[in-house]
Amino acid sequence: MLKGRHLIEPRDFSVAELEELFALAGRIAAEPAEWKEACRGNVLATLFFEPSTRTRLSFEAAMLRLGGSCLGFAEPGSSSAAKGESLADTVRTVACYADAIVMRNPKEGAALLASRYSDAPVINAGDGGHHHPTQTLTDLLTIRALKGGYSGLTVGFCGDLKFGRTVHSLAKGLARYPGNRIVFVSPAELRVPEYITRDVLKKEGVEYREEERLETVIGDLDVLYMTRVQKERFFNEEDYVRLKDSYILDAEKMKLAKKNMIVLHPLPRVNEISMEVDSDPRAAYFAQAKYGMYVRMALLASILGAA
Ligand code: NCD
Repeated sequence: MLKGRHLIEPRDFSVAELEELFALAGRIAAEPAEWKEACRGNVLATLFFEPSTRTRLSFEAAMLRLGGSCLGFAEPGSSSAAKGESLADTVRTVACYADAIVMRNPKEGAALLASRYSDAPVINAGDGGHHHPTQTLTDLLTIRALKGGYSGLTVGFCGDLKFGRTVHSLAKGLARYPGNRIVFVSPAELRVPEYITRDVLKKEGVEYREEERLETVIGDLDVLYMTRVQKERFFNEEDYVRLKDSYILDAEKMKLAKKNMIVLHPLPRVNEISMEVDSDPRAAYFAQAKYGMYVRMALLASILGAA
């Protein structure tokens, strides 16, 4: 059903298509050996114009575990972008070599543009401060596995909600399921953009509120989604330094939370979750990284027509 499709933003796949994808991810996680030849002979290109650890490596691990091969670059300085080549030309060329393209780029809209020039399916691995749909697949699968579903939940997003693309994508993803309530916790300068609140949540009647203090809301939450302040998107260092430690989740704050709340974080973490929280059974961010690989295996197998 997903064969040959691009994934640019979190709603490109229907709710029913996501169900199938998550079910497939579950089957792959249960019997990974069954899938080790599924994409034999296929090539995945990973074009990363911005730094990454989990997203790039989990895509490459996913492709290798499906029996396929990977090529690409991890920083634009080693590609012809450094010579001034346009993204359109790079993508047109890479589509001649690869069966699917995963791309991360600092410019909002870059993945959409790439998809218009590519004969191979394009997967958006992050376009600036805009969207990151495969992190949303990861997050939804994690929530489903640990909370038994993704409806009727109170989900708190905390940190840099202005530039945090994972927040924009997950808020849009969660808003499709009934009964979810969203609480945005950020400093005034880092509030979630209106293309999420006004254009999606308000329009669709999703219950949400905005707060500045984590302590006042943490006790209401079923899921707490922490994020780092996105240093690379700030125009000046001073603002970053002033805002970077706005929220630090520690053992004291965890005492105020429900016993079955889960803490997610797309990672990398900088200061916003103190290490002492890692041993709390509610800390789920490393498990989340593992779900990311399985859901990317399911995604690649599906768009390459191997599932
Ligand atoms: C996130 C990203 O790149 O947007 N990381 C990730 O893909 N796991 C979050 C971040 O960098 O803060």
